[in-house]
Amino acid sequence: MIEIFSPGRVNIIGEHTDHQGGLVLPGCIQYGIRFQGNQTDNGLIKVISHDMADEFTFDPQNMKKQNNWVDYIQGAVFYFTKETGIVPSFKISLKSNLQIASGLSSSAALEVGIIKFLDILYRTKLAAKKIASLARLAENNYVGVKCGIMDQSIIARSLNDTAYLLDCTTLEMEEVRLPSDLVFLLVDTKIRRSLTSSKFNERLEELDLIKQELEKLNLTLQGLQMLPPEDREPIFTQLKEFYPIETKRLIHVITENDRVDQYKQLIAESNYKAAGKQLIASHRSLQHQFDASWSRADEIIQWVEGHINIVHGGRMVGAGWGGNVLVQTLKSDEQKVINELKEIDWIEQDMITVLSIRKGVELLE
Ligand code: GLA
Repeated sequence: MIEIFSPGRVNIIGEHTDHQGGLVLPGCIQYGIRFQGNQTDNGLIKVISHDMADEFTFDPQNMKKQNNWVDYIQGAVFYFTKETGIVPSFKISLKSNLQIASGLSSSAALEVGIIKFLDILYRTKLAAKKIASLARLAENNYVGVKCGIMDQSIIARSLNDTAYLLDCTTLEMEEVRLPSDLVFLLVDTKIRRSLTSSKFNERLEELDLIKQELEKLNLTLQGLQMLPPEDREPIFTQLKEFYPIETKRLIHVITENDRVDQYKQLIAESNYKAAGKQLIASHRSLQHQFDASWSRADEIIQWVEGHINIVHGGRMVGAGWGGNVLVQTLKSDEQKVINELKEIDWIEQDMITVLSIRKGVELLE
């Protein structure tokens, strides 16, 4: 019997930048999916999900898309076979305490967990980077969400209980130790989205279009990123004339990359208040430029802005259109913040979690 734990992740800052090769600052969290499984010899794959109270058996040589949770598993199996030539036969059961469709990357936890399980079962010794890229292929091409590489990378590759700065162009990962006097709270807004049917792929198309327009000006997104903010402005103004919506998406990506750098530096300087402001600016950009927020998340951020004496900042996390909001504060203010957050009439105690950052996917002995 092989037992694996594959965690979810929180992204502290750098949202909707990964699919453009940008910077992100994620870390794995205490919640995740536990897999228990073994090899079988009937050529079939049987998956039992305790949380969905569901099970499903399929032939890995003849898979059909199910348009539900099974697709993440089939996609992972498909790309494992494509990479290794092995057609697996196994039985596996899943138990999860990770919310679905809530910005904590349950999908990547599932895909990475399955590939890691197969890697151990068949002793294929895939590199962690390879596991991440296979899991992303599963999501992009089998499930059909054109996500970036952030979630799969942090879950497959993080070795320590820290956040990481990931450059989504070079795939370099650098540990970023979060100070121990800081606390990150997650507030579940209880609004759930469906990524596949959401605006995710639409945003990517909008960005593709505006990048084509940039090319006509002999510019790339990366080139624009390097310019000082005052030199970007006239370009945004020019683009906005014909492509107002698409230009807003571009402005989000470019400014969000700046914010990741700034946040990391401010945290290193222990300037928590200023770092918190970057979180709020990220949220506002996701709300107004990327149109990825939702009303309960905006309500929490408004609350944050009114309580800046006890919190540093906050922002929606993950793809958007539902899920969780992150709030940064001092450990010494944690209880006060939890109590006062409940001033918002729909927030109950069980919607607030204190996050702990942990390492990525692991084999449990
Ligand atoms: C989802 C995707 C990620 C990333 C975020 C937004 O979690 O899977 O690749 O694009 O949304 O930052």
